[in-house]
Amino acid sequence: MRVFVAGASGAIGTRLVPQLIDRGHEVIGTFRSPGHGERVRALGAQPIALDLLDPGAVRKAVLETEPEAIINQATALADLSDFKHFDRSFHQTNRLRTEGTDALLAAAREAGVRRLVTQSFASYRYAREGGPVKSEDDPLDPAPVAATRESNDAMRYLDQAVTDAGGIALRYGVFYGAPNDGLIEPVRKRQFPIVGKGGGISSFIHLDDAAAATVLAVEDDGAGIYNIVDDEPAPMREWLPVLADALGAKPPRRFPRWLARLFAGEAVVVMATEARGASNAKAKRELGWKLRYPSWREGFRAAYASAALAEPAKPDPAARAGLSQYQRKERQHDA
Ligand SMILES: NC(=O)c1ccc[n+]([C@@H]2O[C@H](COP(=O)([O-])OP(=O)(O)OC[C@H]3O[C@@H](n4cnc5c(N)ncnc54)[C@H](OP(=O)(O)O)[C@@H]3O)[C@@H](O)[C@H]2O)c1
Repeated sequence: MRVFVAGASGAIGTRLVPQLIDRGHEVIGTFRSPGHGERVRALGAQPIALDLLDPGAVRKAVLETEPEAIINQATALADLSDFKHFDRSFHQTNRLRTEGTDALLAAAREAGVRRLVTQSFASYRYAREGGPVKSEDDPLDPAPVAATRESNDAMRYLDQAVTDAGGIALRYGVFYGAPNDGLIEPVRKRQFPIVGKGGGISSFIHLDDAAAATVLAVEDDGAGIYNIVDDEPAPMREWLPVLADALGAKPPRRFPRWLARLFAGEAVVVMATEARGASNAKAKRELGWKLRYPSWREGFRAAYASAALAEPAKPDPAARAGLSQYQRKERQHDA
């Protein structure tokens, strides 16, 4: 197939393009930043500079390249650091998820492209009630934190628009597996604390596994929403010490909710203490997806082995056991 990948130069795009080519597909890959065209070409795709927020340019690019399938992986998250003003930080990404989606869908309609796959998000979106792990049929959070409303609305819009058009929305977990993953520096510097009891559940996904699921989705004839997450949704108090250890960092600090709210905002507090995880059962069942890294436990170690070597820290037996001293105290306290 001729596959048009919007956002081919990004974290997931650069993993996806080689996997598509390995499967025998021909790839047209778009980039936005000057200089990223070479990155796309080196992966074996035909590079095209494209601003997804320019509908005329999107129309031209799609009509001229005549793809049989379109995958949208465009986000604007490279400089993300301020989670307190969440919607402000995600504003451009939200525009890509709404206006960018509209432009691609219009171009796809005109060009007769019926296979559509778009990047969505699973973690921290499901209703914060009931069991810890949610399927695609479970309700989304009806009352997200005020600072995240625009971002939640944009993801809802994208999920609906793409599936209404007969396409697939992939609700990925939190990406990891690249040397510049956003969590690395804050965790290394102990700036990423466990908040409260750290009971909020995260769903992670290694970038290679996310790319593999995306290839299966674009080869699939159906439409729908899939959670693309690993097998082990886990509370922050479990995964964060393991990540710190994998990076060779000291165990994470602990902050009470009020302090974390002050520094990082309500959205982060809710993610850390109340969020629910996502189930990957549907993607495994319907797409035949198999994970190379079924759990972040081995995934973090595989991804960051060289990062830990680059910045050695004193070994910590508690963190090695996947349990911080704080957690031990808390569990003793709970018991
Ligand atoms: N599920 C998740 O957890 C998740 C999802 C997305 C991103 N992230 C993380 O966020 C960080 C940054 O992501 P990233 O490295 O992929 O960078 P990014 O800035 O989010 O860019 C992603 C892709 O979108 C393209 N793009 C940006 N603005 C565009 C526009 N207006 N029109 C068309 N294309 C546009 C980029 O092109 P250029 O490269 O040419 O600028 C790139 O190909 C990474 O650590 C990543 O893992 C996490």
